[in-house]
Amino acid sequence: MAQRIGILTGGGDCPGLNAVIRAVTKSLIHQCGAEVVGIEDGFAGLTEGRTRPLGWRDVSGILAMGGTILGTSNRANPLADAASLAATLGHVRELGLDGLVAIGGDGTMSIAHGLAAHGLKVVGVPKTIDNDIMGCERSFGFDTAVATVTEALERVQTTGQSHGRVMIVETMGRYAGWIALEAGIAGAADVILLPEVDHEVEAVAAVCRARERAQRHSVICIAEGAKARGEGLTVHERIADSPDPLRLGGVAHVLRAQLQPHLRSEVRATVLGHVQRGGSPTPYDRVLATQFGNQAAQLVLAGRWGRMVTLHDGRLDSVGLETVAGRNRCVPLDHPLLTCARQIGVSLGEPA
Ligand code: F6P
Repeated sequence: MAQRIGILTGGGDCPGLNAVIRAVTKSLIHQCGAEVVGIEDGFAGLTEGRTRPLGWRDVSGILAMGGTILGTSNRANPLADAASLAATLGHVRELGLDGLVAIGGDGTMSIAHGLAAHGLKVVGVPKTIDNDIMGCERSFGFDTAVATVTEALERVQTTGQSHGRVMIVETMGRYAGWIALEAGIAGAADVILLPEVDHEVEAVAAVCRARERAQRHSVICIAEGAKARGEGLTVHERIADSPDPLRLGGVAHVLRAQLQPHLRSEVRATVLGHVQRGGSPTPYDRVLATQFGNQAAQLVLAGRWGRMVTLHDGRLDSVGLETVAGRNRCVPLDHPLLTCARQIGVSLGEPA
């Protein structure tokens, strides 16, 4: 009998989700005539039994679309209490699901791992613009976010040049600086500030002063999780019922206020926010997402449950969900891009 496989997208949206949904569905239908069931709004749909069939035609034409046709949620948690867990496992039984493909970030992988302990057969696909999932060197969505931030850095540069200003651009990324690091280099930022390297405000001001004399303007790319030495994270909001309640944001404005008294030029801050998660995936992300989706289907067909698709040394692979759950992958302090940035004269906000 044909397998019946559910698929859901959890956590924040991300360019390439639809490309994964398409690849999983087409691969399962093409290879074994599986019945694919789309679960709406992430784990919320599984707890509440909200689903729809996903056929070949439902997933045709969605490869380049941003967002997720299934909807998502970063609050739903079927493990939150006994009633939610019972409802979720009950719906899995009623739907006759032989397995589930869960596409999401570390929160989704932690829930998937928790549900696996209750007998759910699950395969994970790593998703995040932050590129911070343990065991996966590149997640889809990251390349698109880097392209968006790079363009923003280039655009603010013209205002910086014209007005002789210091332009600060804040990226997303939570506790990892991957987006700021790669986009900062691609967008020719003069200063790149990351969560992994605490910065000195005076060191940043010194770079801007030197540039005031030479080139009139500076561009600073700061990750939302960056902080000055001795200071805490800049928290925008606390969302009590979210598995990860802290929402970061606003550190660019904090830095602007700290820098302004030390500089003659005007300092301006731009927080890019959700534009980094929106829109159509780049060709790289479309290819990666398609490969991840197909790889997830291969794990399903091989009955290799409890695993997450990964990219390791440039090759598709998989790791056990238990090695991913509850962990983040930050920029290592010996990463070659940090060395490269320093060697070409980009400041990381460290004392000279
Ligand atoms: O994890 C992706 C991400 O966009 C982070 O970079 C950011 O901190 C967070 O999600 C924002 O979440 P929300 O959309 O819930 O505000």
